[in-house]
Amino acid sequence: TTSRKPIIAIDGPAGAGKSTVTKRVAHKLGLLFLDTGAMYRSITLAVLREGLDLRNQEQVTAIANASKIQLFNNPVAEQPMRVLLNGEDITTAIRSPEVTANVSAIAAQPAVRAILVKQQQAIGANGGVVMEGRDIGTHVFPDAEVKIFLTASAKERANRRYADLIAQGQIPPDLTTLEHEISERDRQDSTRTHAPLTQAANATLVNTDGLSIDEVVATIINLYEEKVQQP
Ligand code: DC
Repeated sequence: TTSRKPIIAIDGPAGAGKSTVTKRVAHKLGLLFLDTGAMYRSITLAVLREGLDLRNQEQVTAIANASKIQLFNNPVAEQPMRVLLNGEDITTAIRSPEVTANVSAIAAQPAVRAILVKQQQAIGANGGVVMEGRDIGTHVFPDAEVKIFLTASAKERANRRYADLIAQGQIPPDLTTLEHEISERDRQDSTRTHAPLTQAANATLVNTDGLSIDEVVATIINLYEEKVQQP
């Protein structure tokens, strides 16, 4: 047993709504949130900026070791996490299509994962955090009190992404292309050798097709209240 506060692990594929749900759950329960994908994106951005070959594990590892990632969040305001890389604000830069297209190659490298998982475990050492990613319930915090595996069909995720891009004033690719990109990233993340995206044996599967954000949030909060004894 440990004296740390509870941890909620939220894993699942891209576009299942993890970020929105994680922020809202953290807000409602007064916990911190941590988007671990932002850390893999930060290293990807650093490697791209250096113009290095993303598959050169030695060089990528050196960059990962030299990168100081700082994460700030304001769960009360439900704002996106602010991300600093060696002091520079890269909150927006890590969402670029170039980073998104290349992050799987970085996240597949065991040395990078070891560096970032260690940082994630340090951030969550005292608990009181809702952490989202791909391997939180399986590797980062296998003893998390609440583990959720959040999914949605590729079609539904493509529809949401399409609507998001339009809402941001961007011109989206057609739905078939989006669905293809999403399926391809799922494939890469699920078939990599190191810490692939898989549902932890004791995680609760939540399929969000046709559910509102509020319904998903309520489901997770109910689970939290069931599993965590309030003092
Ligand atoms: O959630 P996201 O799209 O920002 O994640 C970016 C990439 O990082 C995605 O390809 C999967 C990877 N990732 C990972 O391997 N492990 C995590 N804990 C979080 C993200």
